[in-house]
Amino acid sequence: MTNRYAVILAAGQGTRMKSKLYKVLHPVAGRAMVQHVIDQLNTVKLDKMVTIVGFGAEKVKDQIGQASEFVVQDEQLGTGHAVLQSEALLKDKEGTTIVACGDTPLIKGETYQALFNHHEESGAGTTILTAKTDNPAGYGRVLRNETNEVERIVEHKDASEGELLVNEINTGTYCFDNQALFAALQEVSNDNVQGEYYLPDVIEIMRNQGKKVSAFLTPDFEETLGVNDRVALAEAEKTMKKRINEKHMRNGVAIIDPDHTYIEPDVVIESDVIIHPGTIIKGTTIIKTNAEIGPNSEISNCSIGEATIVKQSVANDSKIGDRVKIGPFAHIRPDSTIGHDAKLGNFVEIKKTELGDNSKVSHLSYIGDAEVGSNVNIGCGTITVNYDGTNKFLTTIEDDAFIGCNSNLIAPVKIGRGSYVAAGSTITENVPEEALSVARARQTNKEGYVTNLKNRKRD
Ligand code: UD1
Ligand code: CA
Repeated sequence: MTNRYAVILAAGQGTRMKSKLYKVLHPVAGRAMVQHVIDQLNTVKLDKMVTIVGFGAEKVKDQIGQASEFVVQDEQLGTGHAVLQSEALLKDKEGTTIVACGDTPLIKGETYQALFNHHEESGAGTTILTAKTDNPAGYGRVLRNETNEVERIVEHKDASEGELLVNEINTGTYCFDNQALFAALQEVSNDNVQGEYYLPDVIEIMRNQGKKVSAFLTPDFEETLGVNDRVALAEAEKTMKKRINEKHMRNGVAIIDPDHTYIEPDVVIESDVIIHPGTIIKGTTIIKTNAEIGPNSEISNCSIGEATIVKQSVANDSKIGDRVKIGPFAHIRPDSTIGHDAKLGNFVEIKKTELGDNSKVSHLSYIGDAEVGSNVNIGCGTITVNYDGTNKFLTTIEDDAFIGCNSNLIAPVKIGRGSYVAAGSTITENVPEEALSVARARQTNKEGYVTNLKNRKRD
C-alpha cells in the first residue's frame, strides 16, 4: 500500500470575502469550510495531514486543533509557495500527496478516495481533479493537446480569449508523487499577471520532465465549488443543505420544505420525524422517532424524545423527554431536563431546570434554577425569583404541587409535595407538604363607595 499524505491550503486571507475572518473559517452548515475539508479527507486513510495556515491565524489553528499538523506561511505568495512550506515535513517521503484547498468545502471523501485510486493505478506523476461547467469564470482552465493529454493549467487572469472558452476547470485538488512534487516546486516562478507562485505550474514542469500527467474528471461540478466570495458561500450553503436534507429524507424523515430547513451535519434524526418549514437544527441534536418539529423553530444541542412536538420555539443544550408538547413560543435555555408527557406552553421560558414527568407550565411563566417534580401544575404567570443581583438560588417544587396563577416564588424556597400556592402569592418561606399557602393582601370590599362618590360630585 502506498503511503498517503495530505496538504491543505488554508493560509489565504480571502480578500474577496471582505471580512475580518480568515476565509477558510467561514461556516457552511455551521462548520468552518476548512473543517469540512479535513473531515472528508479523514475518511481516507492518511499517514500525515499538514495544513498551511497564515501568519497570526490563531483562530485557524484553534479550529484545526489536533486534527492536522500545521505549518505557517508568513506571506501569501501563492499556492505553490504555500505547498513549499510543508517541505521540511514531507519532502523526503515516498508516496502520494493530495493537495486540497480549504475553500472547497463540498468535495466528498469518496471523491478524494477515487482521485487517490485513479492516480495510484495510472502511475502518473500528477493527477488533477477537474470538472466541467458552463460558467468557468475565475477558475484555472485545463489545457489539453490534440491527443487530449493535459498540457498545463492557465489561470483565468493569465488566459487568452481562446483559453477562456475552455470549460474544463482545475478544481484546485491534485494528487502528486510526493518527491516529484517537491522537486518540481523548486522550478515554479512568479512570472505571471498576479506575481504569485502558482501550484498549477507544477503540471507543465512535470510534463516537461517527461512525467505522466493525468486528469480525473469528476461528473459533479457542484461538488468542486471554490468559495472566494459571499455569493459562492451562499451557494455552498445551499448545496450542503440539500445534501444533508436529502440524506435525512432517504432515512425516512419527512421534511415538508427542504429549501427552508437547515440541519447541521452532526444532527441525528430517526425515521418518521416530521420537520416543518423554517426550522434550524444545530450541533449534536438527536431527535427520536415520531417527533414533530417546527414550523419556525431553532433547536441546538438537544435530545428530543419520541413523539414530542415542538412548535415555533427555541431550545438549547437541553434534554426533552417523550410525548412532550412545547410551544408555540416557548424558550428552553441550557441545562434543562424536561420529563416525559410534560407541557411547556405559550411564552414560557425555562432555564437550568429539571421538570418532572407529566408536569405542566402552560402559559407566560419564567422557571429558572428550579427542580420541579412530577405531576406539578404551574399556573399562568408564575415566576421563580432566582436572582438577587449577585447570586442565583434554587427553587424546589415537589411532586403533585399546584402553583396558582401569578405567583412569585422567591428562591431559595421549597414548595412541599402536594401543596397548593394560592394565586397571586409571593412566597418567601417554604411551604409544607399538602398545605395551602396564601401570601397576598386580604381583599376588602368597600360597599357603596362608588355610589357615595358620585352623589358627592352631584352636590
Ligand atoms: C485556485 C487555482 C485555480 C483553481 C481554483 C479552484 C492557483 C494559482 N489557482 O485559484 O487554478 O481553478 O483554485 O478553486 O492555485 N492559499 C494559501 N496561500 C497562498 C495562496 C492561497 O494557502 O499564498 C490557499 C487559500 O487559502 C485557498 C487556496 O489556497 O484555500 C486557493 O487559493 P485561492 O486564492 O482561493 O485560489 P483561486 O484563485 O481560487
Ligand atoms: Ca479559491
